[in-house]
Amino acid sequence: MKQCNLNFWLNGEQTKVSIPMTATLLDVLRDYLGMTGTKRGCEIGECGACTVLLNGQAVNSCTVLALQAQGQKVETVEGLSEGGELSSLQQSFVEEHAVQCGFCTPGMLMSSTALLRDNKNPSEEDIRRAISGNLCRCTGYMPIIKAIKKESER
Ligand code: FES
Ligand code: FES
Repeated sequence: MKQCNLNFWLNGEQTKVSIPMTATLLDVLRDYLGMTGTKRGCEIGECGACTVLLNGQAVNSCTVLALQAQGQKVETVEGLSEGGELSSLQQSFVEEHAVQCGFCTPGMLMSSTALLRDNKNPSEEDIRRAISGNLCRCTGYMPIIKAIKKESER
């Protein structure tokens, strides 16, 4: 398969990697860069487990060709922690018991990060809309919604 170079900004670090032209952003993050915080679920854009931010917008990385990120900014869950400590949003998820198996959590965190940057005081409706593409099979959605609301009130 034809290889090409991808140059992009990953969690603020300039990153260069040689990849097959057809690789998805999810493939590159997990398989070429070892960033396994971003989860591989359905791979058809349905579950949101693979959500990352591309230039600040939440996207399903399984449906984005990696080359679309050429020269762009990508943020993953690994970029949220602050000096090795949980971010305030992550702490809110812990406090509200918004995590069970954790498979959906990176995607939930990235979708809610995008929301809270755009809207400092989201309504419950705003929160529900922001995570509507993220499926959770464990906690139910209320603890997750509460955690995001709590973070907006900190
Ligand atoms: S793995 Fe990308 S949306 Fe499910
Ligand atoms: S905590 Fe298990 S899928 Fe959400």
